[in-house]
Amino acid sequence: MSFPFYRPRRLRKGEVLRRMVRETNLTPDDFILPLFVTYGKGIKNPIKSMPGIFQLSVDNIKKEAKEIKSLGIPSVILFGIPEHKDEVGSSANDPHGPVQEAIKAIKDKVPDLVVITDVCMCEYTSHGHCGIIKNKDVDNDATLELLSNEALSHAEAGADMVAPSDMMDGRVGSIREALDDNGFTNIPIMSYAAKYSSAFYGPFRDAAESTPKFGDRRSYQMDPANSNEAIREVILDIEEGADIVMVKPALPYLDIIRRIKEDFGYPLAAYNVSGEYSMIKAAAEKGWLDGDKAMMESLISIKRAGADMILTYFAKDAAKILNK
Ligand code: PBG
Repeated sequence: MSFPFYRPRRLRKGEVLRRMVRETNLTPDDFILPLFVTYGKGIKNPIKSMPGIFQLSVDNIKKEAKEIKSLGIPSVILFGIPEHKDEVGSSANDPHGPVQEAIKAIKDKVPDLVVITDVCMCEYTSHGHCGIIKNKDVDNDATLELLSNEALSHAEAGADMVAPSDMMDGRVGSIREALDDNGFTNIPIMSYAAKYSSAFYGPFRDAAESTPKFGDRRSYQMDPANSNEAIREVILDIEEGADIVMVKPALPYLDIIRRIKEDFGYPLAAYNVSGEYSMIKAAAEKGWLDGDKAMMESLISIKRAGADMILTYFAKDAAKILNK
């Protein structure tokens, strides 16, 4: 069938027809909103490189949680900014750390908001790397125990799910074992399975105060040039017990999202990262593009590529538009 008999424009005539043939739909149910929890009280620090995003203390997180839930967003993922950092990130499993306290506060106030926690050492180490340093590199196996302890402390505080983002080999298995041995057999793991070493994390590192003090993360995060390697990473994580796998960042890696969805059929999350957020915000502030439209187009493209869940700083803004 070809022109002039077939005319694709026939079905683009008017919004109602377009809605009828639309192949992908976004809903607030798709979103997981990242939150930055800091110590102290009454804190709401704006993050300069991420307009509209704040570091919040636990009391403010509580208020925020109510609003998030009321917008129909089912879930948040917590990142902590601890008061003290050291070489081995000892505050990562502090039962009274910002993340642990925030979990309790949210579960107390808004129990059906699903609380996921990011499990990583970079926010807790003085050098900003995602594990223990030996000979100027992150020591993989020694880091596993710390990550497991951190995940366990989140589960003990009441987290609904843990999400390791460190990219150490074997961490999903190690965390699964620690959770199971301590009675948390029902806590799922969302693994940052294909996490690339990306320039798009820049603004996040301002927000989480986790920029590495030396070197970069290329000895543990993936090379952006690789696609088969993402498959191997996903296989490992699934074999080790991951319940949900993630691709991160999202927009520059839509091909990876699609490939993993097709190859595995596992619940798939995609992280629309800080740089993807800030680029749109910055361009919109300059009047160079329509921020809301660029946001919605980005989110629908991530879903169209195959993501079941989207971690995004746009969650509230997009939910407001979708709820209209
Ligand atoms: C921690 C972590 C990072 C992000 C999520 N978890 C930063 C990094 O790996 O450097 C980035 C998220 C974002 O940019 O929005 N390892």
